[in-house]
Amino acid sequence: MVRLGLIGCGRIGRVHADSITVHPRAELARVVDPFESSAREVGEKFAAPWSTDVEAVIDDPAIDAVVVASPTPTHVDLLIRAVRTGKAVLCEKPIDLDIARVDACSAEIGALTDRVMLGFNRRFDPSFADIRSRVEAGEIGTLEQLTIISRDPAPPPATYVATSGGLFRDMTIHDFDMARFFLGDVVEVSASGANLVSSEIAEAGDIDTAVVVLRGAGGALCSITNSRRAAFGYDQRLEAFGARGMLTAGNQLPTSVRFSGADSTEVAPPYHNFFLDRYTPAYRAELDAFVTGVEPGSTFSPGFADGRAALVLADAANESLRTGASVKVGP
Ligand SMILES: NC(=O)c1ccc[n+]([C@@H]2O[C@H](COP(=O)([O-])OP(=O)(O)OC[C@H]3O[C@@H](n4cnc5c(N)ncnc54)[C@H](O)[C@@H]3O)[C@@H](O)[C@H]2O)c1
Repeated sequence: MVRLGLIGCGRIGRVHADSITVHPRAELARVVDPFESSAREVGEKFAAPWSTDVEAVIDDPAIDAVVVASPTPTHVDLLIRAVRTGKAVLCEKPIDLDIARVDACSAEIGALTDRVMLGFNRRFDPSFADIRSRVEAGEIGTLEQLTIISRDPAPPPATYVATSGGLFRDMTIHDFDMARFFLGDVVEVSASGANLVSSEIAEAGDIDTAVVVLRGAGGALCSITNSRRAAFGYDQRLEAFGARGMLTAGNQLPTSVRFSGADSTEVAPPYHNFFLDRYTPAYRAELDAFVTGVEPGSTFSPGFADGRAALVLADAANESLRTGASVKVGP
């Protein structure tokens, strides 16, 4: 049994608590959140001891590994403290909004970065993972173009946008990681952005609509299309195009029920509304990979370096947006 502590009992913390509870080899040993009501609610719901004190997880030698699901500015400090006590860490994305802090963290913990897994859950989505395996197996020949469409159902509140770090570091970061999952190293980034959805987002100085083009080191191109709004629900699609064919993953519906009648047929319910529903299998598979990787000597994927690389691409996209030029990215 791997004994896990959960730090942060908000939206994504609850998802991880659920994944831990249903995992056959994991035990939710303790949950912590500075807000007592959140800690108590999650502790009681998932039958785990709860506390408002982070040290109750960090300093407990009986806890093997930690899931850091607190707000982004707390990640670096918590993961440093956790790996120093010998614990493995599943850290939510992004590691931090500031690449200098990420590098300082890496310098401080050195080889212990190997004990950190990054919460890029979409790598574990069964459809995306299947496409990736089949591309790797050569089923469509050499990969030439990757198309990622990622649109949220509705804009987040202005208060969220203000501290989010901007669309590229908050939202597109998942797509940058997905691009790297398929393309490997990316050498060039070109980004365009617009404010077409929300005046509040514009007032906060951020964009709500973007198209980013990436060039992989092997020559393949990737386009990422983002919007903070999709009238029909959470829009998550992927297409891999190669010399010998194409693999695509479309949107998913909560059920496979279809209506057929005299006036219309195939009227489907709306798509999943957001990540909590759409990516449940991915979050569970991600947790399974983390639990499996906790054993000493094993490595985590995606790891700390993947978290850093996605942030580098987000920063390059911001630079491209600002300058109107494409930005070369080093190794
Ligand atoms: N991988 C994904 O799909 C995904 C989805 C959503 C959020 N996230 C990431 O997860 C993190 C949390 O996001 P969220 O949407 O769950 O936020 P949230 O605000 O819903 O939850 C954060 C929780 O952390 C608690 N908290 C605040 N300071 C803390 C501290 N110092 N120590 C411990 N807990 C603390 C808060 O009280 C809150 O309950 C962010 O970094 C976000 O980028 C990832």
